[in-house]
Amino acid sequence: MSAHDIVIVGGGGAGIRAAIAASEVSSKLSIALVSKVYPMRSHTVSAEGGTAAVLREFDNLDLHAKDTIFGSDFMADQDAVEAFVKEAPGELIQLEHWGCPWSRDPDGRVSVRSFGGMSVDRTLFAADKTGFHLLHTLFQTSLKYDNIIRYDECFLTSLLVDDGKVCGVTSINLYTGQVEVIAGKAVILCTGGGGRIFPFTTNAAINTGDGMAAAYRAGVALKDMEFVQYHPTGLPGTGILITEASRGEGGWLKNKDGYRYLQDYGLGPPTDKPTHRKMELGPRDILSRCHMQEYAKGHTFDGPYGHYVHLDLRHLGEEMINKKLPFVRELASKYVGIDPVYEPIPVRPVVHYMMGGISTDINAKTTLEGLYAAGEAACVSLNGGNRLGSNSLTELLVFGTRAGRAAAAYATRASAPVAAKIQALAADEQRRLDRQFFKKDGGKERIAAIRQEMQKAMEEGAGIYRDEEKMQQACNTLRTLRERFKNIIIEDRGTTFNTEVMNALELDYMLDVAEAVANSALKRKESRGSHTRTDFPKRDDANFLKHSLAFRTPDGPRIEYLPVTITRWQPEERKY
Ligand code: FUM
Repeated sequence: MSAHDIVIVGGGGAGIRAAIAASEVSSKLSIALVSKVYPMRSHTVSAEGGTAAVLREFDNLDLHAKDTIFGSDFMADQDAVEAFVKEAPGELIQLEHWGCPWSRDPDGRVSVRSFGGMSVDRTLFAADKTGFHLLHTLFQTSLKYDNIIRYDECFLTSLLVDDGKVCGVTSINLYTGQVEVIAGKAVILCTGGGGRIFPFTTNAAINTGDGMAAAYRAGVALKDMEFVQYHPTGLPGTGILITEASRGEGGWLKNKDGYRYLQDYGLGPPTDKPTHRKMELGPRDILSRCHMQEYAKGHTFDGPYGHYVHLDLRHLGEEMINKKLPFVRELASKYVGIDPVYEPIPVRPVVHYMMGGISTDINAKTTLEGLYAAGEAACVSLNGGNRLGSNSLTELLVFGTRAGRAAAAYATRASAPVAAKIQALAADEQRRLDRQFFKKDGGKERIAAIRQEMQKAMEEGAGIYRDEEKMQQACNTLRTLRERFKNIIIEDRGTTFNTEVMNALELDYMLDVAEAVANSALKRKESRGSHTRTDFPKRDDANFLKHSLAFRTPDGPRIEYLPVTITRWQPEERKY
């Protein structure tokens, strides 16, 4: 067993930012950073288009807050939004001081670009590899702190809870196959989202909702899980993200007749200006629905991977594409054999982000003493029903910092967990893992089959358009899959990088997350943000201006509600 003051699970942007923030509180704190992959392979690395903050004279904090709240369809907690916009500029300037290579204007200032749902240009970027540079900057900075101790390639299996307080985690060292106990006075979950519960996603294979499910199993509610974001421009087949920055820089979406169809959905009129606030820069939930309506009208292309439209960048020219969107050119060339300088890129909506997550307060604290969460794993709630593109990298910085500081303050005053109790909890967990995974005999269900059925159920029941019957069917299917999961076959008895066991553990987590999404969606009888019901097409503030809270029970999720915090922006119709 190893013991620390703080255990952070997740080596992406939120986790590393939290580790640095905690370390800066006191160099005496011992901080464990546990990640199932080498930190630079965390999903933050794949973020492309940019990160938002108010840094220019034409912008202001209230405008950023208003855009975020409108984008959220009034589901965001406005105290969280106000804290976020206020602390965002400082975080991005801090990254600059740590060496982040932001793209710059000719006068030397850090550049800002347009992004969907933002009223002015406020998205900082490093070409279209912002996540890579941001994560690299954080990672290299973290190396300066001797009190951050890394546990790379260690897979979280449970939170250890004693006497109502979290006291550490168990994890499988993927190299040795051993279950290790990492004790801590405080734990911060920064494990990202769970987009892999859907079949078609921009999310990395590692995004299986591990931290969300671990907290849920420990009795913490998952908040607003029904809100799942589709990004309008993923590559058909792979789901690889073609960044919104390509539209921010002036790209056009066209249907099979070459027509900029968004003008027919209240987002027009079209403009030839290189940046345009409406049309292609509408929020993602609206653009994804427009795509589906074009499909219903027969206006989309049909390809081997389903329907798609065209993202046309040709008018931007080769020089601009090479300078601002080099990765888009590379991805389109490598994955669909298209050079966007000369041909439009086929794109379609694809699951991208979970607005919901582990319910936290504004300081990243959960209802379980000693447990904190930040980044996509958490729901503060900043994003409500629909996140604006480029707010999430900033979110993981602002709330990663808040989580690190809050956990450090708590760990400084909390007493160390009792070793004997931790050992007893860990022994229970070892027995569970042996019984269900490592030494499991018999069984007839294949992991891949259950995973595919789960993903199909989610796509059909909890996709862009939802209704009672399809969502109920998804909930029923997921319950059955939960039962069938008990009967899985595990044949690999190896100890070194046993990917079969890891896939089984990930599927176990995903089934919990998927049930929370489908059941929260079923109970929300209105349309708001990304949650669009054909049977309840209108937003219903009288009955549903409230967060859902999913609690785990043996019979499936129990859904409760929590009021939304409104400070200065009264709900009104969301028009663009
Ligand atoms: O399109 C993008 O670059 C995605 C950005 C985001 O989700 O914030």
